[in-house]
Amino acid sequence: MEIKLRQVNSVSGIIEVPGDKSITHRSIMFSSLSEGSSVIRNYLLSNDCDRTITAFRKVGARIRSDKNNLYIKGVGLKLINPTGENYNIYAGNSGTTARLFSGIFSGQNFETIITGDYSLSIRPMQRVIDPLLEMGADIKSNGGLLPLVINGRESLKAINYKSEKSTAQVKSAVLLAGLYADGPTTYSEPVKSRDHSERMLKIFGVNIDIKGNSVTIYPTDKLIAQDLTIPGDISSAAFFIAAALIVPNSNLTIKNVGINPTRNALIEVLKQMGANITLINTREVSHEPVCDIIIKYSRLKAVNIDASIIPRMIDEIPIFTLISTQAEGVTKISGAEELKIKETDRIGVVVSQFKKLGVQIEALEDGFLIDGRNEFALTGGAIVDSFKDHRMAMTLAVASLIAKGETVIKNSDCVNISFPGFYRMLNSICD
Ligand code: S3P
Repeated sequence: MEIKLRQVNSVSGIIEVPGDKSITHRSIMFSSLSEGSSVIRNYLLSNDCDRTITAFRKVGARIRSDKNNLYIKGVGLKLINPTGENYNIYAGNSGTTARLFSGIFSGQNFETIITGDYSLSIRPMQRVIDPLLEMGADIKSNGGLLPLVINGRESLKAINYKSEKSTAQVKSAVLLAGLYADGPTTYSEPVKSRDHSERMLKIFGVNIDIKGNSVTIYPTDKLIAQDLTIPGDISSAAFFIAAALIVPNSNLTIKNVGINPTRNALIEVLKQMGANITLINTREVSHEPVCDIIIKYSRLKAVNIDASIIPRMIDEIPIFTLISTQAEGVTKISGAEELKIKETDRIGVVVSQFKKLGVQIEALEDGFLIDGRNEFALTGGAIVDSFKDHRMAMTLAVASLIAKGETVIKNSDCVNISFPGFYRMLNSICD
């Protein structure tokens, strides 16, 4: 599918973005592993989260849904494979499903095979296999890639793992395997990655100690079902924050956005650049900080960002590169080599597609140099491609709001991976 979008005069209104993807995945997983019935309010209904739901339905979790809520009757920590044969899980495009599942299914009594789509099948899995092998898991892979064949073990070994990377997917996989271990498992990382698993496992009754960037999980024999509310996804809100900042005369309010400190670096950096962003009604919902965000069009100044902050805004880098095109000066983004192994090579795709829009941007080994001394408008009439990467499609859609004339975006429907209804919402705020 392709979509055609045009330059707009301003962006305004009050919107609410859908529930957080990372938190929705975790809520489905932990509720399914619980004893009792959970309610998940404001969950994200998207292709990625659907992979997680489908997989748990087949191993004993009873999951019902309506438009806003999920109702989950858990199975307990030991899942039930009714077929007696290998259990096949198709994770689609979802790295969170594949990687967190490898921790959970390492501790089951049956064999599981995890596969995914083309993009997921070329993303690295060795990072999750290594610590799990240390825990005594039996995992075979295709040279560090999917499919993973996991021969579940009755019990796993507790470990003390020091990761060289900051990745919440690996951290969460190890913590989940730690539920099945013979003692406390500790995981440390250089910069604290998103901590939704730690926060939510505590709510489900798991004993967890946190010291700086180190987490220790204590094995348990049961999780306790909960009633949870999922905040709006800051990674989805980021596209609308960007639109309001870069389209002149804009004034937008986004309600109910999660601002977990391990996810909110985009807002911090934008404020340093001079962005007119105000956070109001800050409150806590299901142990996650939430607020409403008011954004007004702003004249921005370039900044440099590096590895010390990247993990806290990793999914927002593509849209941040677009914002930087409108900031005065040269923005340097370094320490972001992980972008090369996301849903696409996001360094390569941002640079190749932005060049079509007339942006002066250069790829670095681990980031970008963006020359923001452009004319305000980007070049119009371009045909750009998301390469089926949802965050690239949404970044290019926001770019088209400041490109002269019309922009065509190929492979536009992949937004359904994390944000069904994205184009409708964008359209509703554009004038
Ligand atoms: C996620 C963690 C991040 C992020 C991804 C979701 C999660 O990946 O990019 O979109 O839900 O834990 P890494 O753990 O690979 O950094």
